[in-house]
Amino acid sequence: MIANKKVLMLAGDGIGPEVMVQVSRVMKWMEKHNRVSFDTEDDIIGGACIDNHGVPIKDETIESAKAADAVLLGAVGGPKWDDVDFEIRPEAGLLRIRKDLGLFANLRPAIVFDALAEASSLKSEIVSGLDILIVRELTGGIYFGAPRGVEDLPGGGKRGFNSLVYTTEEVERIARVGFELARKRGKKLCSIDKANVLESTKMWRDEVIRISSDYPDIELSHMLVDNAAMQLVRDPKQFDVIVTTNMFGDILSDCASMATGSLGMLPSASLGAPDNSGKRNALYEPVHGTAPDIAGQGKANPLAMMLSFAMMLRYSFDMEEDANNVESAVKLVLDAGLRTGDIMSDGKELVSTEKMGSAVIEQLEILTAS
Ligand code: IPM
Ligand code: MG
Repeated sequence: MIANKKVLMLAGDGIGPEVMVQVSRVMKWMEKHNRVSFDTEDDIIGGACIDNHGVPIKDETIESAKAADAVLLGAVGGPKWDDVDFEIRPEAGLLRIRKDLGLFANLRPAIVFDALAEASSLKSEIVSGLDILIVRELTGGIYFGAPRGVEDLPGGGKRGFNSLVYTTEEVERIARVGFELARKRGKKLCSIDKANVLESTKMWRDEVIRISSDYPDIELSHMLVDNAAMQLVRDPKQFDVIVTTNMFGDILSDCASMATGSLGMLPSASLGAPDNSGKRNALYEPVHGTAPDIAGQGKANPLAMMLSFAMMLRYSFDMEEDANNVESAVKLVLDAGLRTGDIMSDGKELVSTEKMGSAVIEQLEILTAS
């Protein structure tokens, strides 16, 4: 059995807790089958934490996250906290954990499962077989740049401002992640910027070109973000790995999710740099939000959370076989016609969050029985 893995579970708000429950079931199943043993700790983040502690994340939680081998996160936010102070809004908890853990590399794969090609709002021939990876810079750019704020103007009215800042070091480390991942895949990297307007992203492009000399085997291209948004819906299969800034990656990954049928299908991994002992902070979360409209009704799609868990097995625990099993189980339940509401189409079986979780576990049983 693989050694004890310390996992901090932050279910969050809205549908976060219900999709997390399904992953917990898979974790228990794996333990029961002696595949691994997990040492889990549950904690709160986002709105739930604001309600209890007046802040979206506690300092102790940040420390537990640093001490853990990996963090699993559901989702944060909701209309209930729309009016809290900007500094303590639920999203600030998520941004803080990303920043404090140095999780600069956000991997967002957009994969179209064959069974879901029909569920996409795009034509199935445009999306079927799609397998792209968006590498989003996660701890810099306009999300964190200073100065930022809102100030009163002397003559009345206000001035709101944010800064899009990148340093050589920040661009270099994310570009290297993009090149390395491209090397393990289709050997194509597209860097997305707005180099025709924004100096900081012109510098981004120049840095990516400079670093590309270390990766002569990778075909590098550049695209302006407006064109990239268009190309992602016109012909997404032209991409292999995309590397881009924090905000462009936020936007383009939602865009790419529509090719996969639903935002409810997209997992993500947020990784830090390894320390001297080789330990790397990591957080795994679905790309979807808290879906307050369906929260607590058993309607949420737990598959993005399952796939995020699979990424945890692969990237934090090197458990490639188990990661593949979870991904195959997801594929098989979709092939069997099971659907939550977000990916429902004619002739398929509408199931609850719980039923979807059970179906994944049943497939894991079958996959591992042989
Ligand atoms: C995401 C989300 C977050 C982001 C929000 C919730 C702060 O949209 O992970 O894509 O903007 O990064
Ligand atoms: Mg987003």
